Formats: sequence, structure tokens, C-alpha cells
Amino acid sequence: MRARITGTGFYVPDKVVTNFDLEKMMDTSDEWIRERSGIVERRFVDSEIGSSGLGAEAAKIAMAKANCQPEDIDFIIFATLSPDYVFPGSGVFMQEKLGIKDIGALDVRNQCTGFIYGLSIADQYIKSGMYKRILVVGGEVHSTGLDMSTRGRDVAVLFGDGAGAAIVEPGDSDDYGILSTHLHADGRFAKELCCEDPGSLKTPRLTEEMIASGTVYPYMNGRQVFKHAVVKFCGAIQECLEANQVAAEQVKLVIPHQANLRITEAVAQRFGWKVHEQVFSNIHKYGNTTAASIPIAIDEAINEGKIQRGDYVVLVAFGSGFTWASALIRW
Ligand code: COA
Repeated sequence: MRARITGTGFYVPDKVVTNFDLEKMMDTSDEWIRERSGIVERRFVDSEIGSSGLGAEAAKIAMAKANCQPEDIDFIIFATLSPDYVFPGSGVFMQEKLGIKDIGALDVRNQCTGFIYGLSIADQYIKSGMYKRILVVGGEVHSTGLDMSTRGRDVAVLFGDGAGAAIVEPGDSDDYGILSTHLHADGRFAKELCCEDPGSLKTPRLTEEMIASGTVYPYMNGRQVFKHAVVKFCGAIQECLEANQVAAEQVKLVIPHQANLRITEAVAQRFGWKVHEQVFSNIHKYGNTTAASIPIAIDEAINEGKIQRGDYVVLVAFGSGFTWASALIRW
């Protein structure tokens, strides 16, 4: 029996931060950000809610839509690169907030590809019969970890906070549900998009010098990331279509990780799809929310009536690691 997504939800903090707001904090401009990324505004937390708290809010909506209670969930998968604490992971904090006791909670650390990695794990557990109702969440709080000075502007303007959730259950037919997932990584590029400190390599893990030199903030080789992203996005889409003998013209909607509108446009052009109609984009509202971006986009697409039962939907992501992945779902 295939696994199906039976409910989705998303939650973003209320605080809207526009490109014009960023102009007041660093040497940047609305024009620069908009032209290169498509981002107009993003959400930042204004309290100590953490990725687990954002995830819990998204999860409540997903559970309501799937018509289930917290006690019906039998496994949690939480994807994030911004856990509330260094350890334990955000999954257990979210579990506690939702009042769910004793079930397993797994944290996934695959950055922008984290949600698809998580979905792939859920898919296998459901198909094997091990679990019956899995809560898969992607949640991020980037804003508390960005260098909001001119030094960090190349990264800081791109990211936002938010969470998305999905309930995965056995489906009622082999014709519908998650058809396949495809996961990849290439650690040779791990340092092209990373946050070096504080990590376990160094003693002590955190020093004044690390803070002063900025190694506690994310580093990104933007051009290298861009170049690889377009190639890997396209390859991963091709892979999931070929694996299921589905043609690009049969796809109703592609939900790419929201990294950058220019990446999304390049991918759409390669397959002859139209951005907004066939390739979903909401990056103008939320920026790049890493592991949260795909589940947020799925829920928005459903709310906008863009996904109906029987539609072929492609999920695809690329990010730090480098990692990349795709999934083909017949809704
Ligand atoms: N505001 C204004 N100027 C900025 C800036 C900002 N926020 N950030 C960087 N700049 C400056 C740089 O200092 C550089 O200046 P210089 O030419 O004087 O050295 C210049 O802008 C670079 O501009 P450009 O050559 O147009 O950059 P780019 O075309 O490489 O675009 C990115 C930069 C980051 C938008 C692009 O590389 C990108 O999208 N990469 C992928 C990012 C991504 O998707 N990451 C997440 C993956 S999951």
C-alpha cells in the first residue's frame, strides 16, 4: 500500500520584514534583492518560539486537516538546520509542545532537502507497515543566526523563518500517493554552504574570535550554489519522472524548494513549464525557509486549489551538503 499525504499545514511568524527594512540594517537595496532572488519580504520571529514552536503550530493545522488528534500520531520526523538547542533536536521539543508522549521522534539534518529526506523516511515506514500515521515537519528560525550587517548581506537577505507540516498515512489505493523518492548528496561541496562554528571540531567550541570573525554565521559561495542548483534540480526532476514513466506534460504542479526565483525560472524553462501556473513560487513572501519551504508551499498550493486528487505533483530540492532530492506524488 502506498503512503499518502492526508493533511498539511504551515505557520509563519507575524512579523514581516521587507527589503526596505533590511536597507536600514545593511548596505543593500530592494532592487538588488528583488532582481537576484525574487524576494520582497520574509517573516522573522519576535519571541523565543524556536523551530519546534513554529513546527508545532504548523503540525496542529496539518493534524486538523487530516482529521487526527495528537494521540493518533505514531512517529515524528523533524527536519531543520536551526534546532532550538545544539542538542537534543527540535523533534522532541515539538513533541512535548503537542503533548504527544512516548512515540519516536527523529531529527533530520539535510538542510534545504530535509523535508524530502523526511518524507522519504516516512514513506518507507508506512509502506513497511511499521507506522500508521507519521507527522513530518520542516521548521526553521534563521533570523536569530544571520549576520545582519553589511558583511553578511549576501546570505542574510535570502532567508526567512517558518514551518510546514504533513501527515503521512497508508493510502486507499496503489494508484495514488508517494510514487517514489530520490535522495542524493555530495560531501565534496559541504563547505560551499555551511555554518562552521560552534562545532565539535574545535576546542573550545565557541570563542570571542569566532563571533568577531563571523564564522558563527552561515557562509555561502553563491555562484557555486547557483550553478549546481540548476543542474541538480533538473536532474532530480528527470529522475523521478523517468522512474515512474511520467512525462513532463503530465505534471500538474512542481513544488521546488524556494531557494531563488531565478533558479526556479531556469528549471521551469528547461522543462517547458510556466512559473506560477505549473511551478509554484511563494519566495516573494517568505524568502528561503530551508526545510520549511516545500511543506509551506504544498499547503499554500492546496489552499489555492492548485492540487486536486489524481494530479501528478513533483517535489524537488537542493541545498547545503550539497544535498538534492525529488519525489513524485500522485495526489
Ligand atoms: N545587497 C547588495 N549587494 C550585495 C548583496 C546585497 N544583499 N550581497 C552581495 N552583494 C554584492 C557583492 O558584494 C558583490 O559586489 P562586488 O561585485 O562589488 O564584489 C556583488 O553584489 C555580487 O553581485 P552579483 O555578481 O550580481 O551576484 P550574483 O549574481 O552571484 O547573485 C546570489 C548573488 C547570492 C543572489 C546568487 O549567487 C544566488 O542566488 N546564489 C544561490 C543562492 C541560493 O539559492 N542559496 C540557497 C541554496 S538552498
